Amino acid sequence: MNRIYFDNAATTPLDPEVLATMLPYMQAQFGNPSSIYSYGRETRLAIENARKTVAKILGCKPGEIFFTSGGTESNNTAIAASIRDLGCTHIITSPIEHHAVLHTVEHYGKTGNVTTSFVKLNNDGEVDYNDLEQQLQQTAQKCLVTLMHANNEIGVLLDIKRVGELCKKYDAIFHSDCVQTVGHYLINLSELHVHFISAAGHKFHGPKGTGILYVNESIRIKPFIFGGGQERNLRAGTENVYGIVGFAKALEIATANQAIDKEYIGNLKIYMRAKLEKAIPGVSFHCSNVETLYTVLSACFPKTSRSEFLLMSLDINGICASGGSACSSGADQGSHVIQALNKGDDFVTVRFSFSKYNTTDEIDAAVHKLKDLI
Ligand SMILES: Cc1ncc(COP(=O)(O)O)c(C=O)c1O
Repeated sequence: MNRIYFDNAATTPLDPEVLATMLPYMQAQFGNPSSIYSYGRETRLAIENARKTVAKILGCKPGEIFFTSGGTESNNTAIAASIRDLGCTHIITSPIEHHAVLHTVEHYGKTGNVTTSFVKLNNDGEVDYNDLEQQLQQTAQKCLVTLMHANNEIGVLLDIKRVGELCKKYDAIFHSDCVQTVGHYLINLSELHVHFISAAGHKFHGPKGTGILYVNESIRIKPFIFGGGQERNLRAGTENVYGIVGFAKALEIATANQAIDKEYIGNLKIYMRAKLEKAIPGVSFHCSNVETLYTVLSACFPKTSRSEFLLMSLDINGICASGGSACSSGADQGSHVIQALNKGDDFVTVRFSFSKYNTTDEIDAAVHKLKDLI
């Protein structure tokens, strides 16, 4: 059975060109970047070139890019460092952040040293910017604002520029989880007032276990991992050379093809939405009144005895999609994001998320199957 993969917000397949760039660093160029002889110098150069590539694409300085193991580590580091090193004693976040942010905020909230609050959201999951400003205005504490650039389940986008300006006005630290937007949108950090952003390579056809934390040069944070002083003393440990090289290559390809991919993938989303509306009575979509990620279509199917098992039935039929966030255990505990929208529970949410490798034929086949299953 040919499988259809519509879960690209969970992870994407590695681009063969990225793999080709990584392979030499798994074989002939295996040196430890800290070694002073030629093998080491080669891999050191590869890492620093990767850093320059990433920095140029994101509009920042190479010294502001730190390679990490992915979105989760970057989010944890930004939040923990804001409290420990930057004096933040209050955190403003939203109830629809990824667990890598929410559980971290919850953890530090419980230690008693920081207070936390949620910003209000409208019915489409958009941040209420007036509420954010009011919260910033009313607190005398040093604030960390951590809000995601795009939500991984429903695709709702944040006006990152506007939030950056608010944070600047009230002297707050701003972190944005950009895991779903780096590699999909052109981000120019030189135009944004953001202190930290997080990204992960596997969301744009790069390798898993790779990511970056951008740290604006105006702030200084201390290490969490001590040892050999790698990553300019922030994150010790021999570098994941092929992962870093792969991350930069994937970002380079994604950026070069961004306009074409955006149009192609965006059209797949429009196509699937129209097909579903025609084939399945009662189908609706989350966040249909606002702009959302062009990669994500979050559909609500009427709840029936059959549709309750929709994801399982799709899987049996070789169609891979997701109910909520695929980043957690796979056990269906209900999505905190859908719950936060307060829409009740008389529907079944399925997230379809697309990549440049998907086709309209796959959509035709999936909609045909969905019609059968519902
Ligand atoms: C918005 C968002 N943040 C963070 C993460 C975690 O990233 P990683 O899997 O690289 O740790 C994910 C998904 O995996 C995500 O979608």
